[in-house]
Amino acid sequence: MSLFSLEGRIALVTGAGRGIGRGIAEGFGEHGAKVVCAARTRSQLDEAVAAIEGKGSEALAVEMDVSDLDSIHAGVQAAVDRFGQIDILVNNAGTNVRESMMDVTEEHYDQIMAVNLKGLYFLSQAVVKQMIPRKQGKIINIGSLTTGISLDQVSVYTATKGAVGQLTKAQALELGQHNIQVNAICPGFVVTPLTEKVWANPTMREWGEKGIPSGRLATPEDLVGTAVFLAAPASDYVSGQSIYVDGGFMAGDYWPLPASGGNK
Ligand SMILES: NC(=O)c1ccc[n+]([C@@H]2O[C@H](COP(=O)([O-])OP(=O)(O)OC[C@H]3O[C@@H](n4cnc5c(N)ncnc54)[C@H](OP(=O)(O)O)[C@@H]3O)[C@@H](O)[C@H]2O)c1
Repeated sequence: MSLFSLEGRIALVTGAGRGIGRGIAEGFGEHGAKVVCAARTRSQLDEAVAAIEGKGSEALAVEMDVSDLDSIHAGVQAAVDRFGQIDILVNNAGTNVRESMMDVTEEHYDQIMAVNLKGLYFLSQAVVKQMIPRKQGKIINIGSLTTGISLDQVSVYTATKGAVGQLTKAQALELGQHNIQVNAICPGFVVTPLTEKVWANPTMREWGEKGIPSGRLATPEDLVGTAVFLAAPASDYVSGQSIYVDGGFMAGDYWPLPASGGNK
């Protein structure tokens, strides 16, 4: 099998109906995987499946609410019933509410924790149970810039994504003996339905583009290469890592120096 092929592999991608998950699901299909697309909105899942099938691979829509353990177990069963196994899990489903720490309600706190952390935790557990006997698997958790730094007005989200980085290490540690590699992708600023309103604001857009060394915001397609690498044999000796796919944002900050460098 070639280093970057997903031929014959079965991938389950949560949040595959739109945004980053949709981009990764379609990218996996293009690289030969059969893809189980999981989320709550049936119409978006059907669109994702049609797009993957339209490019020549197989796909299945599974309605799943990752914050509900019964729904997780039913979704994993549906995937195994159709394709026999799950080789690759992408824990991408996520949510956010932008508000000050002082305004966070218990309801918002529980909702963000339930999707971004509890869902990822228990879906991993359910999928790993059927990976262990086959001694093979790949888990890709979707973190964020807030896995490593904090951003204003997203304290609960930051707490969940920081935990995703640590949980990725814990999973890698426990699962290495079963030949299961676990890594996180931490996207930078990606224009998706979750963030498009923020980036429609000209002040935010200018700030984003100035602060990103690559000079542009990301699209979901920018994440596909790293996701394929982490799902493919090429990454069989890579585990426990959080990889920032951010156009260089985490490399540092620009000084407000004049173009001459400030030495004149
Ligand atoms: N966009 C960015 O700039 C950015 C940056 C860093 C990290 N991320 C992370 O990347 C991931 C995807 O973000 P995105 O920007 O693509 O968001 P998005 O466009 O809002 O898509 C989120 C996906 O997650 C699904 N989802 C939400 N709650 C769910 C639940 N309870 N059960 C199952 N699926 C659920 C949604 O489908 P349903 O609503 O139909 O269930 C949707 O398909 C998230 O983990 C996010 O934190 C995004």
